[in-house]
Amino acid sequence: MFLAADGSAAELGLNTFSFPTTTLFGAGALGELPERSRELGISRPLIVTDPGLVETEAFAALTKTLGGAEQGRGWFVYSGVHPNPIESDVREAAAAFREHKCDGLIAIGGGSPLDVGKAARLLLKRPKLEFSNFYDESDWSGLAPFIAIPTTAGTGSEVGRSSVITLDTTRRKAVLFHPELMAKLAILDPELSIGLPAKLTAATGADALTHCIESYTCPVFHPMCDGIALEGIRLIVEALPSAYRNGRDVEARGKMLVAAAMGAVAFQKDLGVVHSMAHPLSTICGLHHGLANALCLVSGMKFCAARKPGLYRRIGTACGLEVIKASDVEADRQTIRFISGLLAGLGLNTRLREHGVKAEQLNALVAQATEDPCHKTNAVPVTEEDFRKLYEEVL
Ligand SMILES: [Fe+2]
Repeated sequence: MFLAADGSAAELGLNTFSFPTTTLFGAGALGELPERSRELGISRPLIVTDPGLVETEAFAALTKTLGGAEQGRGWFVYSGVHPNPIESDVREAAAAFREHKCDGLIAIGGGSPLDVGKAARLLLKRPKLEFSNFYDESDWSGLAPFIAIPTTAGTGSEVGRSSVITLDTTRRKAVLFHPELMAKLAILDPELSIGLPAKLTAATGADALTHCIESYTCPVFHPMCDGIALEGIRLIVEALPSAYRNGRDVEARGKMLVAAAMGAVAFQKDLGVVHSMAHPLSTICGLHHGLANALCLVSGMKFCAARKPGLYRRIGTACGLEVIKASDVEADRQTIRFISGLLAGLGLNTRLREHGVKAEQLNALVAQATEDPCHKTNAVPVTEEDFRKLYEEVL
């Protein structure tokens, strides 16, 4: 019998295991960009980013690598991406690409510019595309080449095959998912994330940690993702406190960049209850996605452990705890206490109300969390009433 990571019998059926993104990792990796771009047939790139990033050392490093000022150098910038990207960001990026006769895209920044860079290529292939009809089209071959350069260690969008965009018509987030959306190359250069403020380092790192924990405990048969998730947890536990305390610790920054990419690779398995709680906290209350996960993670883990004792034993081991021979309950208790302590050390032990969430918003939060698809693959089933109790616990 085949077992999922949590020890339950796994639905075998047919599975696809896919880890295809070429990833260039290391301090100074950005220096390879011109040559790697040429290899991918990019000679007039459109740089996609957000207004905040244009002011950073990371962006200055990029422009230096590309050969100085924008004009006359054969590269162009679209920097209008919103924190939660909207459809017009994608349309504007595609228009800039056409206007400047570009032949490839390089997105630099957090998950938002990376998602816009991915999706803009869809409009280059089909200019009349309505994103609400995205799934009516199946042939997305031949999209413009795309290089992803993350400056945060959280979403792992650089290795993902989806783009999350808020649609003009519905004002809801649409997930555009297709393997052709993937980057041809991800450049993980820790020197580009040293300027990330401590608070954002903590919140984005907590997102990566939640990806690893939720994907590992999601009851789907995918031993390759399980191994990647556990090693991602080990790296995060080792590196996140150092990256938080000392942003210039290049080794810690590097480990976090890799761990974030690993978390995103792992969650092709899927996610769970914590992400279902976090999504409405962003759309209704405007919380940062990583912060929302961090504030819900411990109560989500307690909820799952109470219904599936021993669920977190191997996560505890990945955290460096001696829990192999402990009872199921004890292994979970120690692991959850460790994660709680880790988050507290990052200043992430606050309550929702301290971030402006109001009791009057509970009904809307519960309704959206129940509708959210992530918890369908949670380690244990979650009801509407469970969501209410979970939110009340962390309010
Ligand atoms: Fe996430």
